[in-house]
Amino acid sequence: MKPATCLLATLLALCLPLRSWTAALPGHEVASFMVTQWELDDVANISTFLLDRESGILYLGARDMIVAVDTTNKLKSPKIVWNVPEEKSKSCVTKGKTEADCNNYIRLLEFLGDGRIYACGTYAFDPQCAFVNISTFSLEKLEDGKEKMETGKGKCPFEPSQHYTAVMAGGILYTATTSNFLGTLFDISRVTGIEQERIRTERSINWLSDPEFISSAFIQEDQKNNPTGEDDKIYFFFTEVAKEYDLYTKVKVPRVARVCKSDVGGMKTLQRRWTTFLKAQLVCEDRGSRQRFNILTDVFTKQHTPGDPSSTHFYGIFTSQWEREEMSAVCVYSLEDITKVMDGPFKELKKTCENWMNPEPVPTPRPGQCLNSALKAEGYDSSLKLPDKVLTFMRDHPLMENSVVSAPLLVRSGVTYTKLAVTLTSVSNGNRKLNATVLHLGTDHGELHRIAVVGPNATLLQELPLFPASEPINNILLYKDEALVGSPYSLVKLRTEGCSLYTTCEVCARARSLGCVWRQKEAACGLAITELGEDSISRCGRSEDSCSPEIKELHVAEGLHVMLPCVQVSPRPCHWQHPPQRHTRRHLSDLEVRVTSESNGTYVCFCEEAGREQPDCPRAAYRILLQESSATLSIKQASSRQFMVGYIMFLFIGALLGSLLMCLLHRRFKRGGSGHSSSTSEKGRDLLPSSDTPQSPSSASMFSDAPPFTEKRNGTLNGHGGHIPERKCGYIFANSSGHKLHDTSVHLGEEFPGRERAGPEGEEEGLGDGLSELGDGLGGLEEELAKLHVLRGAPLAQCEESSI
Ligand SMILES: *[C@@H]1O[C@H](CO)[C@@H](O)[C@H](O)[C@H]1NC(C)=O
Ligand SMILES: *[C@@H]1O[C@H](CO)[C@@H](O)[C@H](O)[C@H]1NC(C)=O
Ligand SMILES: *[C@@H]1O[C@H](CO)[C@@H](O)[C@H](O)[C@H]1NC(C)=O
Ligand SMILES: *[C@@H]1O[C@H](CO)[C@@H](O)[C@H](O)[C@H]1NC(C)=O
Ligand SMILES: *[C@@H]1O[C@H](CO)[C@@H](O)[C@H](O)[C@H]1NC(C)=O
Repeated sequence: MKPATCLLATLLALCLPLRSWTAALPGHEVASFMVTQWELDDVANISTFLLDRESGILYLGARDMIVAVDTTNKLKSPKIVWNVPEEKSKSCVTKGKTEADCNNYIRLLEFLGDGRIYACGTYAFDPQCAFVNISTFSLEKLEDGKEKMETGKGKCPFEPSQHYTAVMAGGILYTATTSNFLGTLFDISRVTGIEQERIRTERSINWLSDPEFISSAFIQEDQKNNPTGEDDKIYFFFTEVAKEYDLYTKVKVPRVARVCKSDVGGMKTLQRRWTTFLKAQLVCEDRGSRQRFNILTDVFTKQHTPGDPSSTHFYGIFTSQWEREEMSAVCVYSLEDITKVMDGPFKELKKTCENWMNPEPVPTPRPGQCLNSALKAEGYDSSLKLPDKVLTFMRDHPLMENSVVSAPLLVRSGVTYTKLAVTLTSVSNGNRKLNATVLHLGTDHGELHRIAVVGPNATLLQELPLFPASEPINNILLYKDEALVGSPYSLVKLRTEGCSLYTTCEVCARARSLGCVWRQKEAACGLAITELGEDSISRCGRSEDSCSPEIKELHVAEGLHVMLPCVQVSPRPCHWQHPPQRHTRRHLSDLEVRVTSESNGTYVCFCEEAGREQPDCPRAAYRILLQESSATLSIKQASSRQFMVGYIMFLFIGALLGSLLMCLLHRRFKRGGSGHSSSTSEKGRDLLPSSDTPQSPSSASMFSDAPPFTEKRNGTLNGHGGHIPERKCGYIFANSSGHKLHDTSVHLGEEFPGRERAGPEGEEEGLGDGLSELGDGLGGLEEELAKLHVLRGAPLAQCEESSI
């Protein structure tokens, strides 16, 4: 028997049946059959999305390229190459920029409304804009065959990685960007349309102080219901360095700024500058801990009542400048609250003693106000007609005294969110209708998290690994009950609506607040039609509601990495109590421990519960017991049934190891024992980036020279499942948290042969289902197996890609 065949046989015999338990593991979201992925070969640094909602064509702005992806079909995606001539890129390099940065990064794509797309790119630190003819999907050319271009200064940043935002309002482009080569000038401007109306912010640190522009939104007044003739407004969101505090350290503050669409600047004062630029501080503060999240990362704009602009809410992701640990919070601000603050008192920025005592009186008409019918009736039908004293006041008082305050819907440690989108559903709870919000949050590690917020309660529903951990999610776009999610290199589409998204009993139970229930008979999650008996829902949901977790004992040897899972179900953060030691690391709420002589002891994960005055709820508890470096890994559980399960597991492990050993011996015999691929171990290292846990180099013969369990240096023991690559039977352990592999089921093409799995949009099939069909008894067994955290994560699958 050839080694490969031998291994393959082992895998088929052992891995596939095991696979069916994954369905029972909490948080195991391998959403293969709900994900469509596009092949975007040689497309890199995608940063911009533009969707044609009629045709479903999504245009991507990437490095030197514009791609048109048909989101309704998986056809080949046409590309336009728009790059920088060699001379230009050379001269860019001589100015001290890197060769990579001297490409053309397309940062802006907007419909012009005449069958063309306006596209702007950094063009080797000399921003340029061009026109895409949609029907031919090509750049407009001049007679000489060169692309028709115009300057992109002020429309697009010079530097590819610079924070930047742009929005179209009535066919006119508004941007917030840096506007010089050095990246020292910042402007919020109207950049297209009539030349005289292209106005911008005053270059004063009171207006903009080292800003990082995040997002913008055009809020159009209700066309039919606008009795006061209010002007349309454009909102910009950014983080800047606070000038209102005189402190040593640079304090960052998140801001919202507003300008009015009909503003054309002042006549003498504020000529070609906004006369309506007002900004206010956003506060995202956790009232309990007084923790402030002061760095804005993304904003999603959502009308709570479709068609009613006044119901607009802005959902923001925040992080903190002061926390050493990764932390993210989500806060929401209503347009109404922002308007109230903008109509309130102005902050005095000129700190002279005189001003301190008697703030400058506010002139009339009120500075910064948008034009409306009343103002027009007084003769102010254009910002050009505003009196000088109003404009000077405006120039000196861009900041509002009050802040727009919100408490986080959600705070999470150990995770950095990069992008969000929000869907709203209404849930009937008895006779009451409740509004439920689902947050779709992208992380910097290529994951999409879904969190339901109902009233004061937030529930973590799913954590889906979509991309390799090196790819941050940088775009989420909602379209027809689906989300288009992108990283700089990848694009996927996945469903966002309905209970059927929640494919396991546990996850479905968590989605209870959205009206979902698990139907045992169909083994599917569906919408509750009638009020349910507790029975059908509590069966798998109970463990998560408990605040008295059973202490799980782990007998482990030094050198192992153990992942201790803790599921955060409330919006409040979790923290761990454990023996003092350096070798721990947080992955979301989970704790990774590198077992050393100091690790002996009890590890408890406490989660704060929203709205409860009670002490923190212990969600998970483990006791790590050090073991002599013997090969066995044992579990002591009180229940004899669990012991049985453990016993069966040992049979599995034993059989697998036995087979592997046989394979190996066979191979060594044939090849002199050199069949080890280092790519596997490198992969493993990627999985566990760990600053304080250096990885020892893999030995050349992983199977033979150390006890089987302890030598799995690159693997991780894990309750959700270990970090073992797909190709190494990894999907058994596919994980819902921490650092994941990109080879989750999305990349189906890369799985080894012999393993049957459905294509991305098909049903899951495979030998594994055979086991689950064996009936309820085994179903129960699966559940028991699922509880055995240690065993689940045991490095069962020592199968190497290279051997197959
Ligand atoms: C796009 O190109 C086609 C073919 O050259 C031309 O007929 C059409 O007018 C162009 N469309 C626009 C909006 O320029
Ligand atoms: C573009 O992608 C390369 C890797 O391919 C990366 O190193 C670089 O930082 C990216 N640049 C930007 C501006 O995102
Ligand atoms: C649900 O949302 C609608 C629309 O925004 C609102 O009118 C209603 O008051 C909300 N209901 C609750 C219970 O918050
Ligand atoms: C929020 O959670 C608390 C405690 O779990 C529960 O009593 C309450 O009914 C929940 N509220 C909603 C709106 O679901
Ligand atoms: C670990 O702790 C247990 C009791 O908690 C103790 O019996 C055992 O000796 C300790 N082992 C080591 C290696 O310190």
